[in-house]
Amino acid sequence: MATTRYPCLSSKQARWEPRNPVAPVIKTAGLFIFHCKIPEFGPNSAKKLSQTYLCVMKHIAIVNGPNLNLLGTRETDIYGKQSFEDYFLGLQARWTGVTLSQFQSNVEGEIINELQSLAKGGACDGIVLNAAAYSHTSIAIADTLKAIDVPVVLVHISNVFAREEERKTDLMVASAKGLVCGLGLQGYDLAIRALMS
Ligand code: DQA
Repeated sequence: MATTRYPCLSSKQARWEPRNPVAPVIKTAGLFIFHCKIPEFGPNSAKKLSQTYLCVMKHIAIVNGPNLNLLGTRETDIYGKQSFEDYFLGLQARWTGVTLSQFQSNVEGEIINELQSLAKGGACDGIVLNAAAYSHTSIAIADTLKAIDVPVVLVHISNVFAREEERKTDLMVASAKGLVCGLGLQGYDLAIRALMS
């Protein structure tokens, strides 16, 4: 039997979910769902010949903490002259097969609420978190990372380990998959790459 494959999505860009009975193509905001047959999947592939799967584009969520809304004008010698909104447009253009979202807040509790809701019911497949100054102080956000089950890659635009003493501790790092630090805005791109690999 012929394999139906959707050309723009690789298995790294999508996750597959069994679905019965056969469903029509569904399109929702930022999410492209379709059904197809995947004969070659799994040791029991013969049985799976007749199974219908949903292919859901992976969703990577970027969560930015305090003052990162000021990128482009804030301490440009450290953080550069590009705004995050501008950089994010380029990221979206680069990661066309992935649903990327971004959230920024200056409020600790709002960051916690966002992380909790992103972790609920498969709302996303990975989180890129730059908790900014909260990285060094917030036991509450660190507790949230311990409580959620989604892989998180941390980003610091600047090399916090080469800066003031109070920036050399990151309370989030023990619960993260990894940390990209000191590579400028491209750290977000590298973090997405790590989550997609
Ligand atoms: C930062 C480093 C933090 O120490 C600082 O408070 C920030 C940004 C970074 O991306 O380099 O706001 O997280």
